[in-house]
Amino acid sequence: MIGTIMNNLWRLAVALPLLLAFFDGAIAVPHKAVESRDIIDRLIFAHFMVGIVEERGSASDWDADMQAAKAASIDAFALNIGTEQGSLTQLGYAYQSAANNGMKVFISFDCSYWSNDNAAQMSSTIQQYAGSGGQLLVDNRPFVSTFVGDGLDIGTIKANSGVNPFFMPNFAPESMTDDCDGLFSWRAWPNNGNPSPPDSQTNITTSDGDEAYVAALNGKPYMAPVSPWFSTHYGQEVSYAKNWVFGNELLWYNRWNEVLNLQQQYIELVTWNDYGESHYLGPLNSAHHDDGASKWVNDMPHDAFLTMAKPYMAAWKANSLDVAPFIKSDSLTYWYRSSVKGVECAATDNCEKPSPTTNDDYFVGKPNGWDLLNDNIFVVALLTEAGTVTVTSADNEPVSFQAQQGQNAFEIPFKAGTQKFELTRNGNTVLSGTSLKSIDTVCTCGFYNFNAYAGSLPASTPASLRSDAYDNFAAGLPSPTCKAQPSLSASDALTIWRKRNFSSLSDHISNLLSLIAIWNVTILRRLVLDPVMWEPHGRGQSRHHLPQSPGTPGWPCSVFVDTRMLGVVVAAKQVGLVHGSV
Ligand SMILES: *[C@@H]1O[C@H](CO)[C@@H](O)[C@H](O)[C@H]1NC(C)=O
Ligand SMILES: *[C@@H]1O[C@H](CO)[C@@H](O)[C@H](O)[C@H]1NC(C)=O
Ligand SMILES: *[C@@H]1O[C@H](CO)[C@@H](O)[C@H](O)[C@H]1NC(C)=O
Repeated sequence: MIGTIMNNLWRLAVALPLLLAFFDGAIAVPHKAVESRDIIDRLIFAHFMVGIVEERGSASDWDADMQAAKAASIDAFALNIGTEQGSLTQLGYAYQSAANNGMKVFISFDCSYWSNDNAAQMSSTIQQYAGSGGQLLVDNRPFVSTFVGDGLDIGTIKANSGVNPFFMPNFAPESMTDDCDGLFSWRAWPNNGNPSPPDSQTNITTSDGDEAYVAALNGKPYMAPVSPWFSTHYGQEVSYAKNWVFGNELLWYNRWNEVLNLQQQYIELVTWNDYGESHYLGPLNSAHHDDGASKWVNDMPHDAFLTMAKPYMAAWKANSLDVAPFIKSDSLTYWYRSSVKGVECAATDNCEKPSPTTNDDYFVGKPNGWDLLNDNIFVVALLTEAGTVTVTSADNEPVSFQAQQGQNAFEIPFKAGTQKFELTRNGNTVLSGTSLKSIDTVCTCGFYNFNAYAGSLPASTPASLRSDAYDNFAAGLPSPTCKAQPSLSASDALTIWRKRNFSSLSDHISNLLSLIAIWNVTILRRLVLDPVMWEPHGRGQSRHHLPQSPGTPGWPCSVFVDTRMLGVVVAAKQVGLVHGSV
């Protein structure tokens, strides 16, 4: 509860500086050509909100995030911390887990909390972790960053830490000082100078932000933000009401192509786990408490965004301007909102009451900027060879695009119903599948949800929210029309799982675990009793022979699931019973 309260305070405090961080983007800064520099070590970070994970009880509670981020080629987490003890406790766990998992982290002081008043504590906190095995070092110096914080006395904080940190704060370009070793930008979303997407009058692009920073930095390193989406819809059910979208729905694709050409040293993905603003890239089952965001996060995995970025991240790290050589297999990534934007939810929506206080980022009704979004499906095809992409939206006529080798993006109007995707080449079907998420004609769950569902082919079965991440699902919804539980179609998930080819035992187990993470008892039962993959094995157990080739290491092997114990945790533990031989 303390964590929730602190997080609520954090949310409230963060609103104003966050907006300032965006909107000073409107100030014109003369363009300066990017100088060519010797770029040695290009790194990719992801912003991690520590405030929503304060219930974690040990370093091992951080392991899954560390492993998932590392597997996704993320070099370090930027740990966004407030001043409350809960954040500081988690900092210790995170550093320990990073060290245990061969991952790196660094502190990102959230300066809605931290200021020159507690500069001494900033120095001592930097000093405390500087020697940890989990600390990211740059030029052998501990890396430190911030969220906002213009005017912070970086020189004094560095000197008093005694460890010569490499300090890249998130100041506005105009606030750059000689003590900054570089700057991080939060200008990840195109906007119109207000909490709204660009419009015909004002169009502040992400490259406007880059240019302002690169000019101010004058050769010092720049950390560019890359983000997939932005949508938030908190009403009076919380103390940090805010309600807007930024739009630019192909941002995740356009921005990656843009940063490849930026020729800078650092990228920070915004974010790993900020579910509240819908720019998370991490899995839904990353342990966190519900600050009221679960209503728009349930059934809206973003895993496919992160998968799509893989070749881009490889290209960027290799200092390549072209992603094509890094595309090793064909993929389609698609995303869309879960209902048509014209639906009326006023009778049941959580943002219908006017704000009792002055709050510039709270808007009554639909999220500000909603009308500038499109009822479209966005599809990115990353192809090893040219092909034809076909999208069939409900009972509309299929729409086909000729896609080239390399990167391609398309958008087409959607219709409520099921969404199908296909890649063909020389008359053969290469990839084909139906999205797990259908589009509704009514307001999903009774409120305005402008978050995006992201899916992909080859298909995967993304994890769901943990049961404790639904605690505030119904807050603000007088009559929610859906349940606080995952509902992506289980039978589709099963079909996908059956058809998969697994290249290794660990691949197989991790896919099995991701399916079990759906945790619904009915689905779990169906999974373990599925006759195609499983055979009964007496006394409530099912046995699954892994389809490995005989002769490969680990063969023969089986997984046992005890169908008498159907809780998720128990099932996952049972799946741990993998035998090298039976
Ligand atoms: C904003 O500018 C970018 C780059 O010039 C352009 O691609 C985009 O369409 C513009 N958006 C609007 C709403 O005018
Ligand atoms: C799985 O492997 C088999 C045999 O190699 C192949 O025929 C099939 O197309 C593969 N399926 C998928 C979905 O990749
Ligand atoms: C579990 O999933 C099934 C199939 O989707 C659904 O019918 C059922 O209501 C769900 N049950 C629970 C307890 O979540």
